Amino acid sequence: MCFVRLEGLYYHYRQRGQRAGGQQSQAVDLLDGVSLEVKRGEVVAILGRSGSGKSTLLNLIAGIDLPQRGRLTIGGENTLQMSEQARTLLRRRHIGFIYQSFNLIDTLTAAENIALVAELNDHHSELVDAKVDHWLEAVGLTAKAQHFPDQLSGGEQQRVAIARALVHRPALLLADEPTGNLDAATGGQILSQLQGMVRDHQTTLLVVTHSLAVAQTADRILTLEQGQLSERQGDFTW
Ligand SMILES: Nc1ncnc2c1ncn2[C@@H]1O[C@H](COP(=O)(O)OP(=O)(O)O)[C@@H](O)[C@H]1O
Ligand SMILES: [Mg+2]
Repeated sequence: MCFVRLEGLYYHYRQRGQRAGGQQSQAVDLLDGVSLEVKRGEVVAILGRSGSGKSTLLNLIAGIDLPQRGRLTIGGENTLQMSEQARTLLRRRHIGFIYQSFNLIDTLTAAENIALVAELNDHHSELVDAKVDHWLEAVGLTAKAQHFPDQLSGGEQQRVAIARALVHRPALLLADEPTGNLDAATGGQILSQLQGMVRDHQTTLLVVTHSLAVAQTADRILTLEQGQLSERQGDFTW
């Protein structure tokens, strides 16, 4: 069954250029007709050069940003036609997002950052505590539960971000270079946890990565190039 479907997604942003005679703004076509079908439980890796629009694509799928054209359905629901509120609820309940730059909340501890999503979804605080403890342990941060983001290393912040994305067991996990700040050993460990969860809960995973090790664990590898997504052909070097 198709779980995520993108049809002809188009996204541009406007870039200001200064020319004699005044300011001009030019549209940059970042995504130019991106189509993709992902089945439930499938793992898809997305490769692409820096600046090719990978993070933007994940933002669109999560409904954080909107394309100017195209169709997007998640679990059969046309998310582009929903109200902003319905999109937020869908994201909160069913999507986990591991942001490239973590997006942790500075004023909350590691445990509180992880708890936030769980609390929004689930009002039983004992259940939330148990889930947070479970995920702190899973990412090896039990001892740093009460640390604030600025008291954690980049790799530790990334692990908090991963735990936060998984705590509500999302049906769809969007991961933007989730092992980018981790050493090989920790990255491997986190990767096998992600895989375990994907297997156990039929989680659909879209993972943007530069790591061939991560990409090789995927069912499919796609590349984003010049605004288009295509099946990976041959070897890439960059
Ligand atoms: N709304 C926007 N305004 C200005 N620049 C944007 C906007 N959205 C994306 N970009 C630019 O598009 C490029 C692609 O961004 P991104 O999706 O982060 O690529 P990637 O994740 O593949 O490196 C970047 O250079 C970024 O600055
Ligand atoms: Mg990016």
